[in-house]
Amino acid sequence: MTTPNTKADPNVTEFDATAPDVMALMGAMSLGDKIGQMSLAQPGEGHPVEALGDLVRTGKIGAIINVVDPVAVAELQRIALEESPYGIPLLVGRDVIHGFKTIMPIPLGQAASWNPELVRMASTSAAAEASLTGVNWTYAPMMDISRDPRWGRIAESFGEDVFLTCQMSKAMVEGFQWEGLSAPASVAACAKHFVGYGAAESGRDYATTNISEHELHNVYLPPFKAAVDSGVASVMTSFSDLDGIPATAHRPLLTDLLRDQWGFGGIVVSDWNSIPELTTHGLTADDQGAAIAAAHAGVDLEMASDTYLSHLASAVEDGKVPMEVIDHAVARLLKLKVEMGLFSAPCPNIEAEPSNIKKRALEHAYQSALESMVLLKNEHHTLPLKKEQIKKVAVIGPLADGAYEQLGTWIFDGDPDISISAWAGLQNKVGGDLELVFEPALETSRSRDMTGIQRAVEVASQADVVLLFLGEEAILSGEAHSRADIDLPGAQVDLVKSLHAVGKPVVGVIMAGRPLTLSNVMDQLDALVYAWHPGTMGGAAIADLLFGDAVPSGKLPVTFPRVVGQIPLYYNAKNTGKPPTPELVTYIDDIPVRAPQTSLGMSAFHLDVAHTPLFCFGYGLSYTQFSYSNLRLSRPKIQAGEHVDVHVDLTNTGDRSGTEVVQLYVRDPVASITRPVRELKGFQRITLAAGETRQVSFTLHTDALKFYCSGRGWILEPGLFEVWVGGDSNATLHATFDLGDE
Ligand code: GLC
Repeated sequence: MTTPNTKADPNVTEFDATAPDVMALMGAMSLGDKIGQMSLAQPGEGHPVEALGDLVRTGKIGAIINVVDPVAVAELQRIALEESPYGIPLLVGRDVIHGFKTIMPIPLGQAASWNPELVRMASTSAAAEASLTGVNWTYAPMMDISRDPRWGRIAESFGEDVFLTCQMSKAMVEGFQWEGLSAPASVAACAKHFVGYGAAESGRDYATTNISEHELHNVYLPPFKAAVDSGVASVMTSFSDLDGIPATAHRPLLTDLLRDQWGFGGIVVSDWNSIPELTTHGLTADDQGAAIAAAHAGVDLEMASDTYLSHLASAVEDGKVPMEVIDHAVARLLKLKVEMGLFSAPCPNIEAEPSNIKKRALEHAYQSALESMVLLKNEHHTLPLKKEQIKKVAVIGPLADGAYEQLGTWIFDGDPDISISAWAGLQNKVGGDLELVFEPALETSRSRDMTGIQRAVEVASQADVVLLFLGEEAILSGEAHSRADIDLPGAQVDLVKSLHAVGKPVVGVIMAGRPLTLSNVMDQLDALVYAWHPGTMGGAAIADLLFGDAVPSGKLPVTFPRVVGQIPLYYNAKNTGKPPTPELVTYIDDIPVRAPQTSLGMSAFHLDVAHTPLFCFGYGLSYTQFSYSNLRLSRPKIQAGEHVDVHVDLTNTGDRSGTEVVQLYVRDPVASITRPVRELKGFQRITLAAGETRQVSFTLHTDALKFYCSGRGWILEPGLFEVWVGGDSNATLHATFDLGDE
């Protein structure tokens, strides 16, 4: 049986299934059998085999979700292969978002590593662990560009930047599908949520999105195109409506763009219940209308709801849905199952030896946690802590011992029993040399009962240094968990203030699923490490980092606003006609009484907060320091189709080795549509010894300078281009080149 080409030839209008068996199978199947393949069911509360066995046996479903008992999966696959009408095996789906039993940092934290290769390797481990249970399909990577930290699902994203998200999405797709779709330890990946989900109004999950054509093509679509070009097996539609058309019924997106223009040959799956929700949105009148709209748009597989099973056959018989729509969908589903090798081995890894897989997963979890952490402040070189200079350490905060909470959102199968909390990590590392005293102070991250703060103050007053673990429990981010106020929750700000007043060095470690607004605590912390939700090995990584056995290298994949009122606030924004001048600092209290109307400056700023973020995209400190010099370009002018080489000298000016993420930003200052003030176009992780200098080079091809323009598609326009290279999006080392117009 030849492996079919899942990338449909965009020039072939008729479906061209290259796997003869698929066509033979299609020819024998009834309409009802075909619609069964377009349906995915969940076991609900019942035992999976009891709940789903008959649906599989009668060919009513072709995929299942949330069954991770290998015995049940194997039995359901046996029923599918041996007892169902055509012996078609099942897709077995699960949200393996950032690990299976062994949990990696949340994707936002993995993005902070700026290490796509590490993300790829960690995803191979997640796939391998999941495959041990018979799961063969994950609903990841989530690649929604996220510019609003109020949105709970920013935790699942790779942040605000197009280029970084493209790199991470590609890496994760390649990681999940690492040895090929039919390999035992691989799982089919799923690019989600197509598209624009992250633009939900006010950061409320599922809320309306209004995205211009330019923003859609220049910001939200590119990561999905990168995933399709990387061979992603599936795409999931977003719950949200895009300018009035819910993505699940959006034919211009799902068929005209995704399939006809991009040549995507895999399957499109709805999100959970998103087909019947078309009626809730107000697009359709009932489930039959919803099924027809989704089928027409190009949704091949319905997740969890049953409108296809209930209404698609009659819709075809009534001529409301052409039979070819069904045939195209089913052929794609069957081709994917052929490509995954399910007909011959539906649970290829279920007997594999788990120990090596788990060992490898823990190694990836540790390295990912280490590289995801971002050092945001380090006054007076508070960090790394020096064992010889301290005797007693106060370990404060409920998240210090949060082995479960540090796993973050979407950890259905995460095992908290193997999770190393910060408290355990510190005990393992220095418990024999130093006196460690743990005081949670607050019952949970949300607790407003301040009675424990006094105990914490007493513990701190007797210690040489305070390690203060702050942030959010896992439940405060993820799906349907948006926050309108993103300060540290509960009484944590009071806790910081009380501990600062003790007068000992206070090292903050924040575990959270989003950027938090920290202006109200920053001046009371001597040092701050942002650990996101670091996963299973978070505690071991934090201990090694705090005591200098590892050097922080993480950089922010998302902007940190000063206050929630600044949102949306992101680095690759437009200049506007009245950009705030850098030195503009206006605070509402300083405004003179009866100040004249225009006396405060007329620009895009707020009267009551600085117009800059607390921490900018790409920011992150090290225990050493780096300097950039001698930025030069290979040529002052290039033509379309050529490239310019960008060189810079990077020096480690500190006293220890460290890793810097060198970032390349570009601006097109004059174009047919306004372009961002700068855009990330390259990055490299460079490790240098103390005192070492190295030339770092980027090759910038004119393809990277293209942008989408309504009515003209992706275009490249001549003119001057600006380049910056540095350690964050405020990089100042600047050069220009000219793109010729012949
Ligand atoms: C959820 C999420 C989606 C997930 C799916 C299956 O509602 O939106 O990301 O993969 O359902 O759990």
